[in-house]
Amino acid sequence: MSHENWIPVAQSNAVCDDAAIEVVVGQQIIAVFRSDGVLYALDGMCAHQGGPIAEGTVAHGCVTCPWHGWQYELASGIQTINRQPLQRVYEVRERDGMIEVLAEPS
Ligand code: FES
Repeated sequence: MSHENWIPVAQSNAVCDDAAIEVVVGQQIIAVFRSDGVLYALDGMCAHQGGPIAEGTVAHGCVTCPWHGWQYELASGIQTINRQPLQRVYEVRERDGMIEVLAEPS
């Protein structure tokens, strides 16, 4: 049976709808989003040139990077122009008023 390492990263009310926060889990910067009431987590550094995607515009399940406008689907990390899964996706959930991210197996 696998041992899952869910890490609490923020209180649930820290992420409003169509907004995001940036958290650090281990060595990894992760952007946690809420869009249409659903939580998502992606690598916090844009696959293009490392822009802070948690500071991007969130709407309809997508985020637009604030630096040069690359847009990603939050559920898949797919870049919407070339349809490639360029941005890493993390599992995220809410438990007891906290947002938790599934960390790398150690
Ligand atoms: S760094 Fe994100 S679009 Fe360029």
